Formats: sequence, C-alpha cells, structure tokens
Amino acid sequence: MRTAVYPGSFDPITLGHLDVISRGVKVFDKIIVGVLVNVDKTSLFNIDERVELIKRVTRMIPNVEVVSFEGLLIDFMKEYDANVILKGLRAFSDFEYEFQMALMNNKLQPEIETLFMMTSAQYSYLSSTAVKQVAKFRGELKGLVPDMVIPDIINKINQK
Ligand code: PNS
Repeated sequence: MRTAVYPGSFDPITLGHLDVISRGVKVFDKIIVGVLVNVDKTSLFNIDERVELIKRVTRMIPNVEVVSFEGLLIDFMKEYDANVILKGLRAFSDFEYEFQMALMNNKLQPEIETLFMMTSAQYSYLSSTAVKQVAKFRGELKGLVPDMVIPDIINKINQK
C-alpha cells in the first residue's frame, strides 16, 4: 500500500491544498493529511478547527485521513508507516525552502522521499497567508477556499 503524507499548517485549507489532495489520491493508495499543531501563536484557527475543516472538505474524497501532529514530521511518518512526503509547489520561489526541508528530512531519515506536485496554474498564487489577509479586509473568499469553509473564516475574523 502506497501511503503519502501531505503535511502543512492548513490555516486555513485553501483550494490549492484541496487540489493537491484530490490529485494525490490518484497517485497514492492513501493520503494522510498531517496538520502541524504548533504553527505559531497567531494562527487563525486552532488545531482542532483546522483538522475539522479539512475533514469536512475531504469527506467525499476516498482514502484521505486527517491527523494532527507535533514535533518532527519524520517521527509522525514512522508512526503511520509512511515514507513519502507529498508537497505542492506553486512557484519557483517555493523551491529553495522546500528543497532544504526535503534534504533535511532525508538526512534525518534516509528512507524518506519527498515528491512534489505542481499546483494547478489556477491556484498558483494562493496561500493561507494571502487568504487571511483577504478575509481580514473583508475581500471575496469565493474561489480561494472551499465554499463550505467561507462562513467559518468570516465568523472567526469577526470574533477577532
Ligand atoms: O504549510 P507549511 O507551514 O508550509 O508546512 C510546513 C511543515 C508543517 C511541512 C513543516 O514546518 C514541518 O514539517 N514541520 C515539522 C517539523 C519538522 O519536521 N522539521 C524538520 C524539517 S526542516
């Protein structure tokens, strides 16, 4: 069974993330979405909320599991018996950071391979950070995040 872990902060999940997950399940038997617990203190959604939003939008996609993790990604992967990290690459500017992380993970655990999937062109400008900025200033979120998470983002921003 070919299992890949798709790790990230997902604060919040965007259509770009969803694109990688839905294409990932066509390549792997199973995708485990690994949601990093400790992003930073300024995260919009707490870990349970981030996990719940991802579960909600991936409910109709078979073979997706959503799990939170703390600490090193390679330790989380060992626990789930996975040795492939799936990552989305949006632009060349992502490359340096991703290359460094891939090499570090491979150094820490040589069996680990990182595979990159090019994000679909229509989502190449998307990031959770940009989504949060748009939301903060009451911009249009449709087309940036799955429709069913828009009310959650608006509510959360209104509470801040
Ligand atoms: O969505 P993000 O914030 O770009 O995701 C980054 C993530 C979660 C993939 C990365 O920060 C991570 O793997 N963190 C866990 C700590 C770790 O294993 N670090 C060693 C690799 S440099």
